[in-house]
Amino acid sequence: MKEQLEAIQTEALEKVAQAEAPKELQDIRVTYLGKKGSLTKVLKGMGKLSKEERPVIGQIANTVRDAITTAIEEKTEKLEQIAMEKQLEAEAIDVTLPGRPVNVGGPHLLTNIVEEIEDLFIGMGYEVKEGPEVETDYFNFEALNLPKNHPARDMQDTFYITNELLMRTHTSPVQARTMLDYKGEQPVKMICPGKVYRRDTDDATHSHQFTQIEGLYVDKNVRMSDLKGTLDRFAKKMFGEEREIRLRPSFFPFTEPSVEMDISCKVCHGEGCHVCKGTGWIEILGGGMVHPKVLSMAGYDPEIYSGFAFGMGPERIAMLKYGVSDIRGFYTNDIRFLKQYHKA
Ligand code: PHE
Repeated sequence: MKEQLEAIQTEALEKVAQAEAPKELQDIRVTYLGKKGSLTKVLKGMGKLSKEERPVIGQIANTVRDAITTAIEEKTEKLEQIAMEKQLEAEAIDVTLPGRPVNVGGPHLLTNIVEEIEDLFIGMGYEVKEGPEVETDYFNFEALNLPKNHPARDMQDTFYITNELLMRTHTSPVQARTMLDYKGEQPVKMICPGKVYRRDTDDATHSHQFTQIEGLYVDKNVRMSDLKGTLDRFAKKMFGEEREIRLRPSFFPFTEPSVEMDISCKVCHGEGCHVCKGTGWIEILGGGMVHPKVLSMAGYDPEIYSGFAFGMGPERIAMLKYGVSDIRGFYTNDIRFLKQYHKA
């Protein structure tokens, strides 16, 4: 029996040594140590042994079981470690490899232009205001001296939502809204950038939705020369110190007198070329002195207060500044177009 046990041990340890996978070790455990395993079988025969032999053989059997168990445990651990090392090797990251390029976005060209203009006016003491894009007929027209059925309403083709609600056609309603907020007492100095909507057919120079920046300055003794000086500063900062401005008479129901402002052509410096269509000047914005009726409707006494207002289109400014020829470029979001204007 002793020889049998020793043979089992030798055979089992040999198999453990050869095993290459944890599954094999489990099988070995079952084959030798399991309920029907060979060691168990031998032990079952112990009953036939003499009293003296039994403890001796029992001890040998225990030693054999321990030896096999330990061998299996050690081998299992070793195999696990090998498996772990293999996995680590397979998952290793080579930190010296060059990285994949990351696509970084940037602000839209129009956002940059609007922010540039905002900064410029903030520097002159203006506040930045906002107003609703869905506006009432009252603020979009009536408060701006455009009563119902006024022919000047035709200047702006409007998207109506109901008889009283519409998509604002310009940022000028924010003039009236801001003056009402200031209750006819404090001076007002604000600009308002925002989206506006008109029933236009989209082409290279028209868009049914575009951006405007409104400006309004109301105080005691505000004069036309203040408007001119402010716009001159704006034009020179925006387009270059060598640029000249000129004001031409125009008409808006909410300003009197009304003007349109041109800047001298960058290409020919006023001589006349194809960019300025031979005139030497390029139209930039509309403005004027706030109409007394607009002031009084918004709670400011026109005998005490006066003001100027202007409205400009950042798309047009961006087109002139960067030579963009099609307004649709701002909205179709072709990344090749937009990328050219990303700031570094
Ligand atoms: N709201 C006018 C427009 O959209 C521009 C403007 C603003 C004119 C303020 C005068 C004063 O054309």
